[in-house]
Amino acid sequence: MNVDHIGIATQRIDDSLAFWRDALGLEVTATEDVTEQGVRVAMLPLGDTRVELLEPLSEDSPVGKFLQKRGPGVHHIAVRVADICATLARLKENGTRLIDETPRRGAGGCLVAFVHPTSANGVLLELVQHD
Ligand code: CO
Repeated sequence: MNVDHIGIATQRIDDSLAFWRDALGLEVTATEDVTEQGVRVAMLPLGDTRVELLEPLSEDSPVGKFLQKRGPGVHHIAVRVADICATLARLKENGTRLIDETPRRGAGGCLVAFVHPTSANGVLLELVQHD
């Protein structure tokens, strides 16, 4: 397993690029609207992993609600797995609370599923399987 990316909630991706791109020196390799999750995503490779900047497309989206409650900051950690269905089955067997019992399409056409923070020490964990 690897850390696929670290998701960071921002009010506006364009504003946050002043730090992540312009000051720190990372490069934006992809930007995408994931409309079914109500979020705009920018990917910035960082070593073997990536920073995923998140901007809500509406206030009542998951990231919109997160920002209202907690403000900008680390939103989730994403772990890359080889077989997301097998991983979900194993977690379920172990009593893990899942947000997604079955994978859905995420940014970049990957299969993704979220694990509830109550099962991961308060961390929202995203599982990612690349094609
Ligand atoms: Co993510």
